Amino acid sequence: MKNLTPPKDSLDPIEIASRDEIEALQFHRMKRSLKHCYENSDFYRARFDAHGVHPEDLKALDDIARFPFTVKQDLRDTYPFGMFAVPREKLVRIHGSSGTTGKPTVVGYTAADIEHWANLVARSIRAAGGRPGDILHNAYGYGLFTGGLGAHYGAERLGCTVVPISGGMTERQVTLIDDFKPRIIMVTPSYMLSILDEFRRQGLDPRESSLEVGIFGAEPWTNAMREEIEQAFNMQAVDIYGLSEVMGPGVAQECVETKDGLHLWEDHFYPEIIDPVTGEVLPDGQMGELVLTTLTKEGLPMVRYRTRDLTRLLPGTARSMRRIEKITGRSDDMIILRGVNVFPTQIEEQILKCQGLAPHFQIELTRTGRMDSMIVHVECNPDMATQDARATSAKELAHHIKSVVGVSTRIEVRDPNAIARSEGKARRVLDNRPKV
Ligand code: DLL
Repeated sequence: MKNLTPPKDSLDPIEIASRDEIEALQFHRMKRSLKHCYENSDFYRARFDAHGVHPEDLKALDDIARFPFTVKQDLRDTYPFGMFAVPREKLVRIHGSSGTTGKPTVVGYTAADIEHWANLVARSIRAAGGRPGDILHNAYGYGLFTGGLGAHYGAERLGCTVVPISGGMTERQVTLIDDFKPRIIMVTPSYMLSILDEFRRQGLDPRESSLEVGIFGAEPWTNAMREEIEQAFNMQAVDIYGLSEVMGPGVAQECVETKDGLHLWEDHFYPEIIDPVTGEVLPDGQMGELVLTTLTKEGLPMVRYRTRDLTRLLPGTARSMRRIEKITGRSDDMIILRGVNVFPTQIEEQILKCQGLAPHFQIELTRTGRMDSMIVHVECNPDMATQDARATSAKELAHHIKSVVGVSTRIEVRDPNAIARSEGKARRVLDNRPKV
């Protein structure tokens, strides 16, 4: 594969600035942002007062730990527009996260917020190996979800030719990739697998496609999945992270030259890792929940937002900004099975070790009496679909899961295409346990 490292002079100077410069900028911006929150948001003023803190109490960056956390429930409680720190007329865009039930959580952006966002996504695409002039196939969903429009504005900002196809209509996705010959694709990793199947269904060799770089995010995926996709398409697969409450895609991005975790764009976001149970701040390197404070957001600034995403902070490599390790999962997606914590990503890793299995899976949770059980539904590889091959694959997977993850599972090896395909974020867990 080609060397895609972006030339140094194409980077924003702050990407490779010294830690001192980065921290000085963060401190200046954090102070300004806390003041903005206190002066312009009833929500934050009441929160800070109740907590006995004032923006003036911030004397150093880590004083942020004296400020209260913000959580998703705060957005729900103030639905739809109660948390904004500017008059509604100053917002030029609303997005929302779908959630699984009920109303979406609403987020809003001023023109300056959209400007920063476009710049950060442009920076992210460049870090992934994208260049001005590239054709970029954007299969993230357009709409209230931040993926489609977030990627779109950033790609335009970098100077790419954007194909705004959105998610779905997989046959047409493949036709347009074959006809337009994009160099870059932005899509969820699970939907990329559906696109891969469709390539094969149409008799096209994915390794011969024009795609050189895939920028995959919006859901957890493993390094094993990266290898699977890179091999299948003969392309580079890099990770992009973000969340609507904090901005959308482009909060952190993996660099194509190192692929060693995601550089968090620290000039706009201040990260902390906390113990999800006690809320205590943990030192860099330790695993915990990522907490983010926005440093430049006007419309919806976030102070110590608890993302629920589990990762650790690592020092910078290809950039001076710190990295987050690939996200293991969300604390809300963690399955506790007979006392053992299990993440869908751990199951994905084990599936990808089994030759006879395809990477399409769903985890079903059931309960008999007081006993919880986990069934892994996974598809067989079309060329290893005999009863014997399936039985061997099931045994192999159960063994890997037992020895690496530590839980006993029932494996159901299903026919090719038996598992519902995602067109966006995959639904990995089906909880069929009776509600108590
Ligand atoms: O998923 C924003 C996004 C769009 C990111 C496109 C990347 C690409 P939400 O719908 O608000 O926003 O969901 C945010 O998705 O808290 C994580 O749990 C998960 N997530 C996002 N990116 C990654 C990633 C968008 N690279 C939630 N790895 C976050 C693992 C991710 N999980």
